[in-house]
Amino acid sequence: MDSIAIIGGSPLNGSIPISGAKNSALKLMAASILTDQPLRLTNMPRLADTKFLGKLLRALGVEVTENGHGGEQETLFHAAEITSTFAPYDLVRQMRASFNVLGPLLARTGHAKVSLPGGCTIGARPVDLHLDALSRLGAAIELEEGYVSATAPKGLRGAEIEFPFVSVGATEHAMLAAVLAEGTTVLRRAAMEPEIGDLARCLTAMGAKIDGIDTDVLTISGVSSLNGTDWSVIPDRIEMGSFAVAAAMAGGEVRLTKTRADLMTALTEKMVEAGVDISPTGDGVVVRRDPGQRLKAVNVTTEVYPGFATDLQAQFMTLMTTAEGESVIRENIFENRFMHAPELARLGADIHVGAGEAVVKGVPALHGAPVMATDLRASVSLVIAGLVAEGETTVGRVYHLDRGFERLEEKLGACGARIRRITGEADEH
Ligand code: UD1
Repeated sequence: MDSIAIIGGSPLNGSIPISGAKNSALKLMAASILTDQPLRLTNMPRLADTKFLGKLLRALGVEVTENGHGGEQETLFHAAEITSTFAPYDLVRQMRASFNVLGPLLARTGHAKVSLPGGCTIGARPVDLHLDALSRLGAAIELEEGYVSATAPKGLRGAEIEFPFVSVGATEHAMLAAVLAEGTTVLRRAAMEPEIGDLARCLTAMGAKIDGIDTDVLTISGVSSLNGTDWSVIPDRIEMGSFAVAAAMAGGEVRLTKTRADLMTALTEKMVEAGVDISPTGDGVVVRRDPGQRLKAVNVTTEVYPGFATDLQAQFMTLMTTAEGESVIRENIFENRFMHAPELARLGADIHVGAGEAVVKGVPALHGAPVMATDLRASVSLVIAGLVAEGETTVGRVYHLDRGFERLEEKLGACGARIRRITGEADEH
């Protein structure tokens, strides 16, 4: 199992190009099932998760061809024929987003059998909203031995669906199925994350009819078939936010490029309140902090978009560990998402976790130690802490990191971080 070693204390200076968004790429990849024509995705991040979903798509009969290297990466997905509608446990358990092949398979072929998902261990994360939405669209659903069997022999039909609360995955899943349903579907209390807008716009380019993009009511008029298209994946706002926090934590001046300032407005507001200097540029932002300046503690509460992203909560908590004062961090989206707190405490952070919130008392300095990554976003927060911890920090189990961050150590190293990967034995993941 690989680990990452960081020697703290070097400021970050330079420029970091932001990759395409993992959370968008995964849903766009699932959309390739909806058409027998090629879907060409550019600005594709090269991640363990996208590789993994590529493997599942291949097992369903989709031809997956990776082109390009270095800067411009693209992948061609061609589902000329769906040869299997079975997504086995082994190919779904490691990543929850794999479950999103169910709707497109059902829409294209009228039946599918997909394993219930696994993914990061952050809370219970059921899929009841996904299944309710599909059954409202006319699917007959049975659960047996960890599998969902769904059929729609007469095809899916449009429906009014009001989600009981906002779910990113369920909104996307319903949209992926409704585009080929007969008649009109209205999705109310839809999630508005930028990745959902990206998926909706790509589906529109494929011939889908979707109104209300970027709002919480999506109206989808079903079409009988979709065509292929070329689509550039939206920049990864979580990767962007993580590097913004890294720059603020280490001090220095970092330009984040190939992205858009408006994708991290909620984070920017909080960072500015804490004393970080952030200015928008034509293709991203510049983040500055004088290494001698101590930040102020501020409170954050995670919310659905456009609120503060839960996927940036661990990183922001890390930033607060050395700020002056006390910061209260409330987690509203996932109930079990403070697993990074005890690891940060190993580095000297003062964090008290209570029900749904963590209180962070800023300390003057962190100290290097071996720590363990517990989930994807938590692992990057430990790397960020390592950038300032005195001495060496080693972050174990970095397969979590490789699921969602492309060439993290290279990007940070290019800005002056003293960071290296220690290659271990092959792990079971
Ligand atoms: C997506 C993102 C993830 C992010 C999250 C919230 C991807 C691949 N992942 O996850 O990085 O942290 O949005 O922004 O895009 N829920 C149910 N029943 C359901 C579905 C969800 O109870 O059927 C609950 C979840 O347990 C959670 C909340 O709803 O507490 C929000 O989850 P959701 O928005 O669906 O997150 P994901 O789509 O899984």
